[in-house]
Amino acid sequence: MSEKFIIEGGKKLEGEIEINGAKNAALKIFAASLLTDQEWQIENVPQVKDVFNEIELLRDLGVQIEKIDERIYKVKAGDIKNTKLREDLAKKIRASIILAGPILARKGEVEFIYPGGCVIGRRPIDIFLDGFKTLGAEVTETNGRFRLTTSGLRGNNFVFPRVSVTGTEALILTAVLAKGKTILKNTAQEPEIKALVDFLNKCGAKIKGTGTSTIEIEGVNKLGKGTFKLIPDRIEAGTFAILAAATGSHIKINNCNPQHLESLWLHFKKTGVNFELGENFVQVKPTPKLKTVNVTTHEYPGFVTDLQPPFTVLMTQAEGQSLIHETLFESRLLYTDILNQMGGNIIMCDPHRVIVNGPTRLYGKTITSPDIRAGIALVIAALVAQGTTTIENIEQIDRGYEKIEERLQKIGASIKRVK
Ligand code: EPU
Repeated sequence: MSEKFIIEGGKKLEGEIEINGAKNAALKIFAASLLTDQEWQIENVPQVKDVFNEIELLRDLGVQIEKIDERIYKVKAGDIKNTKLREDLAKKIRASIILAGPILARKGEVEFIYPGGCVIGRRPIDIFLDGFKTLGAEVTETNGRFRLTTSGLRGNNFVFPRVSVTGTEALILTAVLAKGKTILKNTAQEPEIKALVDFLNKCGAKIKGTGTSTIEIEGVNKLGKGTFKLIPDRIEAGTFAILAAATGSHIKINNCNPQHLESLWLHFKKTGVNFELGENFVQVKPTPKLKTVNVTTHEYPGFVTDLQPPFTVLMTQAEGQSLIHETLFESRLLYTDILNQMGGNIIMCDPHRVIVNGPTRLYGKTITSPDIRAGIALVIAALVAQGTTTIENIEQIDRGYEKIEERLQKIGASIKRVK
């Protein structure tokens, strides 16, 4: 049965909120576990739908996964019994494509359908396919189903035509067990990639250059066992910081790594947000008057696209005009129409750019969450708004934020989940 959030807005919130492990790191480390028959322990795993779906997907391939504590899993891909990704689950998560390389490396074949995930644009997979081919895979496609085979993966050079996070991770994972050296150029530099690579190296991989735009991988025969603790979710941390600023609240965000959000802090300074950064916390205090700032999303370390929707909500509360330029995904601004229904004054210039005129008073409405990040932005809008907002399709929000209503209730939000 589908669930909804009912939110009473217009209140100031106060208190502390803890950040969980990064969803987009969890999805990749679970995929990487396919590279070895040795046991891995994965800690600080966020309890969110995307991760649960991937765990199911892996179990279907024969991977043994056991939850041994609140957020701790033991994972062992002793044998991969199945080389076809289960369609219903692969359709739900974009990261399913990242399983292809490791399965190919271990079994010489893999079959999958076009991966799913957030509806935020076309989301092609051409770069993945070109990369797999460069490393020695044969690719055939029949009716949206892809079959990859190889008689042995071989290291090679590949230049990404554009920077891709999952693309970079997928090719690293494909090259780890390939014969010889792979050099990847124009790679993504997200902290989740660095954490993954540091761990793979601990388990015996030979990867250099992570955190830069050129990564070199010397293929190895096998990887050993290990324990990996997921890094804090920088998107959660940024989201709660923006929520605090937009609602004029005093919130301390704990267990995060503020260094992973430098671009957001720069925008906060320009907006006049009253905030303080510690080594592993961020504290946001009420700001009397917010100023507008323009935003252009960019690969890391630029302004992260996943925080664009929450930041756009913040701009509805700031004085002046701001241009939001979403450079990565062409459908990631459509939710601004919903903000307008709530009282926002946002003009869409083209699929990649909107102008936000502020400040505007927002009012409660019945609305639907389009995807994870627009969904959480609507939660923030509802907390800012006067009156009651009902948000439908909250399964989208649950994909990325663990028990969001309980965590927001603890800092004084009036939000409840109803069936
Ligand atoms: N692209 C192509 N061809 C490809 C792959 C990507 O043209 O084969 C394009 C995309 O369409 C996009 C650009 O390259 O315009 C960059 O996309 P990227 O591949 O970096 O995105 P992704 O790896 O699919 C990850 C996160 C997203 C996050 C983006 C950008 C995961 C599972 N997803 O997506 O997270 O928005 O990087 O940082 O790691 C989310 O968590 O809500 C989410 C959507």
